[in-house]
Amino acid sequence: MNATSPVTAATLLRAKQRREPAVWLTAYDAVSAEIAELGGADVLLVGDSVGMVCLGMDSTLRVTLEHMIHHAAAVVRARKRAWVVCDLPFGSYQGSPEQAWRSATLLLQQTGCDAIKLEGGQVMAETIAFLADRGMAVVGHLGLQPQSIKRLGGYGRRGRNRQEREQLMRDAEILAQAGATAIVLENIPEDLAAEITAMVPVPTVGIGAGPHCDAHVLVWHDLLGISEKNPPFAPAYANLREAMVRAIERWSADVRAGHFPRAKEASLARRP
Ligand code: KIV
Repeated sequence: MNATSPVTAATLLRAKQRREPAVWLTAYDAVSAEIAELGGADVLLVGDSVGMVCLGMDSTLRVTLEHMIHHAAAVVRARKRAWVVCDLPFGSYQGSPEQAWRSATLLLQQTGCDAIKLEGGQVMAETIAFLADRGMAVVGHLGLQPQSIKRLGGYGRRGRNRQEREQLMRDAEILAQAGATAIVLENIPEDLAAEITAMVPVPTVGIGAGPHCDAHVLVWHDLLGISEKNPPFAPAYANLREAMVRAIERWSADVRAGHFPRAKEASLARRP
């Protein structure tokens, strides 16, 4: 993928056709957006995971459209070339295609994001078609659907038995036919993700779905080792939680000892 020109839905489709894996990463504010792009992310996903990783909620269910608008607008202000996708939060789209249209319009107009994402299979096909037919880029989300946590009872792997596998294959096909621009596959077996990726004409975006998806996404706090605990499928590539605690400890000690701001350590604050 060209590292300088703006990423679009067409760029992502071409990347699938050329088998060039695309890099998606969640971002929740201007700083995370800026750093994600400096690190090479092609797509910034303002996930409703914001509720859990930034806002101290125990699920994504209490995230509102206002929360999403606040965070997505900051991400869009900072982005340079990335495609910005914003989650429709729980309760803002499941009622009807018209409700989804109103919520998605608010997100697009008030944040400047490029696409919206919503969770659900066949039951969301009519809504996806309604939005896509009217010009919106819509990303689907199959497999583990955190907005259904109360019904699922846990964040475990989906698509483990034959019935669930067949349903997921059908859902993916229906979402693509309805006009989804891409489909996130969360926490499903890698062979199933490979089959879906080969079957659908639009990019699949894996998280806990093995290596064969067209793109991969991780949550910012998991990738950087800021979360207290990562899901089993989300590797940390750094331990920033510990680095931040150590930095604050050093500074606290300097303050308490009366050494700040003259301590040598203060000038080392920017060392790696
Ligand atoms: O909300 C989110 O961050 C997501 C990703 C985990 C795909 O939906």
